[in-house]
Amino acid sequence: MTICIISASTREHAASKNVAQYINHHLQSLNPDGQTSLLDLHQANLPLWQEGATADAKIEQQLQHAQGFVFVVPEWHGMVPPAFKNIFFYFNACFAHKPVYIVSVSAGNGGRYPISELRMSNYKNSFINYIPVSTIVDHVNDTINDQGEFIAETDFIAQRIDEGLQFLLQYTQALSQVRESAIFKEGRFKNGL
Ligand SMILES: Cc1cc2nc3c(=O)[nH]c(=O)nc-3n(C[C@H](O)[C@H](O)[C@H](O)COP(=O)(O)O)c2cc1C
Repeated sequence: MTICIISASTREHAASKNVAQYINHHLQSLNPDGQTSLLDLHQANLPLWQEGATADAKIEQQLQHAQGFVFVVPEWHGMVPPAFKNIFFYFNACFAHKPVYIVSVSAGNGGRYPISELRMSNYKNSFINYIPVSTIVDHVNDTINDQGEFIAETDFIAQRIDEGLQFLLQYTQALSQVRESAIFKEGRFKNGL
């Protein structure tokens, strides 16, 4: 199974990237025969989509190749970053009927809004499948360091992430059947509503 982790912050020294690195290592231990890849939106540096914009072929291939995703999303102004929304303008089709585990990140007590925002509005044209389990990594700078290592005294968050990733792998296996089905291949309607 191939899982792509997206670090949704465009900041150079993003805590989201640290969390994504931790998840990448842990996922490799849970899924030793599979593959993982990490898409860092700081490095991707995608221009804001406008009509006629061409998609970056390398990123498109990376997303299309993935069978499941982890979105590591910081809370910015109570929202997901605009650069993260931007990727759905370019690559919506790469997410269709694939499972996603959302991990939100906050330096303080935040992290609820990105989860509710994505679950409320992001599925219609992408046909994305957010799994029921999500995890909030709040007070992130006291929890995971810039080497992607846990520094928190409690392993509560580590346990939550471990559970989320194990569920993601199960959903990834299960939903591959949906994408092999005749109704998926038919593509009758372009939008979900
Ligand atoms: C533009 C901006 C807006 C932010 N707004 C919020 C917010 O609404 N709620 C919150 O909990 N943290 C907010 N933060 C702080 C983030 O929680 C903090 O930067 C954290 O490290 C996650 O973002 P990062 O992955 O970019 O580091 C904001 C940070 C930035 C750069």
